Amino acid sequence: METLAAILTRRSIREYTPQALPDELVQKLLTAAMQAPSAGNQQPWHFVIVTERQQLDALEDVLPFGKMLKTAQLGIVVCADLKLEKHRGFWVQDCSNATMNILLAAHALGLGAVWVSIHPLEERVIGAKQILGLPEQIVPLCVVPVGYPVRPPQPPEKRFTASRLHFNHW
Ligand SMILES: Cc1cc2nc3c(=O)[nH]c(=O)nc-3n(C[C@H](O)[C@H](O)[C@H](O)COP(=O)(O)O)c2cc1C
Repeated sequence: METLAAILTRRSIREYTPQALPDELVQKLLTAAMQAPSAGNQQPWHFVIVTERQQLDALEDVLPFGKMLKTAQLGIVVCADLKLEKHRGFWVQDCSNATMNILLAAHALGLGAVWVSIHPLEERVIGAKQILGLPEQIVPLCVVPVGYPVRPPQPPEKRFTASRLHFNHW
């Protein structure tokens, strides 16, 4: 899929078929994630690939807006290792870029995915860390459930808003 078309047609997909995901597609998602730009190229990310139904259900229990984990084939938990930061505080932008790459790559590959928040909600961070056994310095940003979409994504509404543009001065 052409890049601009992927950006303009991507949707959050929250219902998935039971069809298993080929390993090669998962590998492509993770390759896309790690190709993201990061501050000073620090690449502070780690990814926990959750495939066990018990773990997916446990995550769903601590993520109130993560019901779609129930039907997802897997969840990719995007995490930061605070000890890998060369530029303090930029891990959120870096890991967000990696997440966005996963969402776009999933769409380009005919898969469905959605960003489910963890950080900065303390209770969710604590719950996810406990379930996944994350070390102290690892912070989970979000989980991205992935699967084959039940139905083709609806085209999004056009979001371009001219009144949000400011040329040279507000
Ligand atoms: C930072 C962030 C957090 C989000 N958290 C959730 C979430 O916890 N659960 C959920 O179902 N969707 C979540 N979303 C998806 C948004 O609801 C979705 O992107 C938005 O409604 C626009 O729809 P679209 O992705 O189909 O264009 C999140 C998106 C972002 C960028």
